[in-house]
Amino acid sequence: MPALLDFARDVRDGLGKAGQKELPSKYLYDEIGTALFEAITLLPEYGLTRADERLLRRYAPAILEHLPPPVVVAELGSGSGRKTRWLLEALAHREPVAYFPVDTSPAALANCRKELSGMGALSIVGLETSYLDGLREVASRRRTGQALLVLFLGSTVGNFERPAAEQFLREIRQGLAPGDALLLGTDLEKPVADLLQAYDDPAGVTAAFNLNLLARINRELGGDFSLRDFAHEARYNDRERRIEMHLRSRKKQTITVRAAGFAGTLEEGETIWTEACHKYRTDEIPGMARRAGYLCESQWVDGEWPFAENLWIAAPP
Ligand code: AVI
Repeated sequence: MPALLDFARDVRDGLGKAGQKELPSKYLYDEIGTALFEAITLLPEYGLTRADERLLRRYAPAILEHLPPPVVVAELGSGSGRKTRWLLEALAHREPVAYFPVDTSPAALANCRKELSGMGALSIVGLETSYLDGLREVASRRRTGQALLVLFLGSTVGNFERPAAEQFLREIRQGLAPGDALLLGTDLEKPVADLLQAYDDPAGVTAAFNLNLLARINRELGGDFSLRDFAHEARYNDRERRIEMHLRSRKKQTITVRAAGFAGTLEEGETIWTEACHKYRTDEIPGMARRAGYLCESQWVDGEWPFAENLWIAAPP
């Protein structure tokens, strides 16, 4: 189904829910949302991306010690390529590197290529497709004897519900051969006050990121959301160990979204749930790995902002 029809259906279903209204977080990332997310990664309150990059910079050689050559690298969600550079540079010191960023956004792939251009001994082949299709494509292109290293960084896994995350990690495993590796970035539990600052920054960048989803619905689907009538809200859900982003209606209002065939009412104070950002404990990760068909070989944890890189090796079936 074309992307716009999917978007329209998801908006109709999500806003039409009887209980908690919701919109899938993947729609936060249009061109404006992607630029706003890049700005979030620079905020002093949002330490996640810097921790991820610090770990890769510091431990790239240690990570690669676990992976004998030759290795081919696939990254799920190319991001800007900034943090991946450290790993690719370390790898390029020992062998010529084939790197396959996989992303549905052509803009993200172009940024990644720009960021990594000029690195010797590196060939970049961007795959503009879904994560799992991209992974299958890379697996089919690898040469005999090459191990596959899959990067799933930035705690993107945290944006899945926990059972869906494990299911997705299992599906990745199905595209791998025993001995292949997955480097998984996970944001860890930390004081709630730090998390609330990170997801509700005083400069309002995260609020703009969240509200842009309504603006996107207006632009692409003929919605009539008035952004001023909504407030960004970040909550910590203690039981689920996650931040939840919501958009709170400031008044009772009727919304229509023409291309989604939707019309409905929001009460004053009612919210639309837009994203979940799960936080992990280092000691729950080996169990996740086992259940998804891997062995958790090693973990590296940042000292400044609790965040872990986890190296998983695909176990025999
Ligand atoms: C992309 N993802 C890992 C971010 C996170 O922290 O869960 C998305 C984000 N949402 C608000 N700020 C950042």
